[in-house]
Amino acid sequence: MTSELIDRAQTSKTGESTLDSPRSSDFRRKRPDSVSRMFRTRAPFFLIGVAIAAFFFQFFSHSPSPIPDSVVDSELVLPTRRVLLEESATNLKSKSGKVPVGLRGKRKRILVTGGAGFVGSHLVDRLIERGDSVIVIDNFFTGRKENLFHHFGNPNFELIRHDVVQPILLEVDQIYHLACPASPVHYKFNPVKTIKTNVVGTLNMLGLAKRVGARFLLTSTSEVYGDPLQHPQAETYWGNVNPIGVRSCYDEGKRTAETLTMDYHRGAGIEVRIARIFNTYGPRMCLDDGRVVSNFVAQALRKEPLTVYGDGKQTRSFQYVSDLVEGLMKLMEGDHVGPFNLGNPGEFTMLELAQVVQETIDPNAKIEYRPNTEDDPHKRKPDISRAKELLGWEPLVPLRKGLPLMVSDFRQRIFGDSKDATANAAS
Ligand SMILES: NC(=O)c1ccc[n+]([C@@H]2O[C@H](COP(=O)([O-])OP(=O)(O)OC[C@H]3O[C@@H](n4cnc5c(N)ncnc54)[C@H](O)[C@@H]3O)[C@@H](O)[C@H]2O)c1
Repeated sequence: MTSELIDRAQTSKTGESTLDSPRSSDFRRKRPDSVSRMFRTRAPFFLIGVAIAAFFFQFFSHSPSPIPDSVVDSELVLPTRRVLLEESATNLKSKSGKVPVGLRGKRKRILVTGGAGFVGSHLVDRLIERGDSVIVIDNFFTGRKENLFHHFGNPNFELIRHDVVQPILLEVDQIYHLACPASPVHYKFNPVKTIKTNVVGTLNMLGLAKRVGARFLLTSTSEVYGDPLQHPQAETYWGNVNPIGVRSCYDEGKRTAETLTMDYHRGAGIEVRIARIFNTYGPRMCLDDGRVVSNFVAQALRKEPLTVYGDGKQTRSFQYVSDLVEGLMKLMEGDHVGPFNLGNPGEFTMLELAQVVQETIDPNAKIEYRPNTEDDPHKRKPDISRAKELLGWEPLVPLRKGLPLMVSDFRQRIFGDSKDATANAAS
């Protein structure tokens, strides 16, 4: 088994020169022979080595992999990689009874855009309560830090001042996309910015969802039905929307946001959910934002007349915010894309609502009629059969129960502390 190379090393150890000696020229002359002898002697070992390597490669490449090949191969399904990894982790758990270290009990990282606003801040409360890690991005156009003060200092909570019209990169598992002014007063204030927020902002958040493999939920609106010709409105109704009116920046903006969401879903494999939210009320709504419930409550508390636009016979349905948050979370966690109507089917005329406000706050509150605003829909009432059947969701809080919960918050914000509030309310 001694090879010429070993021989050569031994020779050099003896102190003889290996460069100029006659032996060295011998070696050069004999090299072809020695190489072939080396191959002859080592070839069997080499072949055995190759066979062992091939066997191992074959065996391990067929063992169950936590990421299916198709996921690694296809650019198209890249976004769903995290979800598949989570599924694989579950499978691993069920097979072996153990989850690899680091995957056990993984809390979700959730981005809430517009989380400093009315609905967003209630959603953040529920997600934190569930044990998730929450990042809020908000430009504070209509949102307020005060809505989130109680989470400051919590390591599971982060607040970033950011405008969704600009891209951002954050590692998250789910995105609740709420950023957009929701009341007519605010969305009409800068209509171009409103449509930009709806279109460019939604594009940016969908791009982020694609990049990090997050599930994306769009908070759309019942306004996509416009002034509806179908009553109540089911999700299959395509709407009756004025594309050039003063509300179009919002209505058409949200319709385009829905289109983008579905196109990213079909074209890029993003997991998406769409909620069409109907009128919602509750604590932390902006005071004086032109939405009928907050208007009436603030006016009644300040002893001002309740302003009713038109003849007051137009109808709306009013959903308490905790019901909406429950619906959004069920939608996000469920298996259905939607769109889903999330609203309370209890229908009230504006005059009936004014009456409930009078009963709750001030029986002597006066009503003042004003001319109706342009494109104000006559009727709005959700058909929620789809949400009932597929999400197992329906609202639980009736208007007469929800309104008093909102009134105490408004009292506190209008009159300062609750002592003042009581004094003022009583005067
Ligand atoms: N509340 C309702 O009755 C209702 C009904 C239908 C749809 N929605 C939808 O639900 C979502 C939340 O509504 P809301 O009632 O909480 O409204 P809101 O105005 O209280 O909250 C919106 C939040 O988004 C933020 N925001 C606005 N533009 C932004 C931007 N460009 N970048 C970052 N942040 C931005 C605001 O500062 C605010 O915090 C909205 O998308 C709205 O269209 C609400």
